[in-house]
Amino acid sequence: MIRRSVLTGTGSALPKRAVSNAEMAQIVDTSDEWIVERSGIRNRHFAGDDENTATLAIDAARRALEAAGLEGKDIGLIVLATATPNNTFPATATQVQAALGANGGIAFDVAAVCSGFLYAVGAADAMLRTGMAEKALVIGAETMSRILDFEDRGTCVLFGDGAGAIVLEARDVAEDGPGVLFTKLHADGQHCDLLYVDGGPSTTQTVGHVRMKGREVFRHAVTNLADVLSETLEAAGISTDQIDWVVPHQANRRIIDATAKKLGLSPDRVVLTVDRHANTSAASVPLALDTAVRDGRIKPGQLVVLEAMGGGFTWGASLIRI
Ligand code: COA
Repeated sequence: MIRRSVLTGTGSALPKRAVSNAEMAQIVDTSDEWIVERSGIRNRHFAGDDENTATLAIDAARRALEAAGLEGKDIGLIVLATATPNNTFPATATQVQAALGANGGIAFDVAAVCSGFLYAVGAADAMLRTGMAEKALVIGAETMSRILDFEDRGTCVLFGDGAGAIVLEARDVAEDGPGVLFTKLHADGQHCDLLYVDGGPSTTQTVGHVRMKGREVFRHAVTNLADVLSETLEAAGISTDQIDWVVPHQANRRIIDATAKKLGLSPDRVVLTVDRHANTSAASVPLALDTAVRDGRIKPGQLVVLEAMGGGFTWGASLIRI
């Protein structure tokens, strides 16, 4: 038997307001055709005044708890990945903890932008396996619309808001049993000027806006994602044809396709939600995962690999047997 973090529930939440490419074309000089061709995005959701990162995270977490048959008081660890916290401090995870009645356990935020959920899975898995908690909520939640420059057509059409959550439970399972098998994480701070927010409490005392050199980000993304996927599968001694599903970060359909092609992964084993959600940063992987679990594509016993890359750069992959 081996102690693993077993995935026992998923959940997600989207803001009420859906925004089409046609609506974006009323805000900036763009077109549905350009956005679909360059990114695969057709729709995104933007939070209204009554919605924020914490409310979306709480809704997603409640659905994941329900799927796992648990209540808030059962949770000893909450790791929340976000680049758009409700406040500079306290961590949004503590606001989620209070709303769920999970008081007294561990709760903290992780800042790794679009790779945040992978970093959060890595942290939670390590803490569960070393006995720091028994049951964890791992959440990715964002309101990217709050930090978009709606005068910059190169970025504002690409992002959306949302949240996704999973429940991980420490269990002793057989070697070929379920759980997180391997997580590989990386960062390379030399590229922090290619994708960043131009504000913050310690510098400008403003929240700032997303800035991106899209073409250069694209180039690094395909290489880094293909490398970390290969590294993760190799660590587990698993070949690409044994993978049932890839759940990639939903930034851009062309990045997803190019990465799958580089690894020889069949496109029909790749979960795609970028058309509906756009890039929801740390929320994108758990949102896509929950979509594919709930529509019945991802089933118990299957091998699923999650991957993401984001500002920093940061990137990572996690191999999970469901
Ligand atoms: N609508 C219409 N035209 C647009 C536009 C928009 N929303 N945004 C940019 N353009 C224009 C540019 O101004 C440029 O025009 P010019 O040639 O007259 O100067 C032209 O389109 C090409 O711009 P470029 O940025 O070189 O396009 P691209 O082919 O690289 O596509 C991205 C742009 C952003 C879609 C692409 O670079 C990309 O997907 N990058 C990765 C982004 C990403 O996923 N980041 C998140 C990772 S976590």
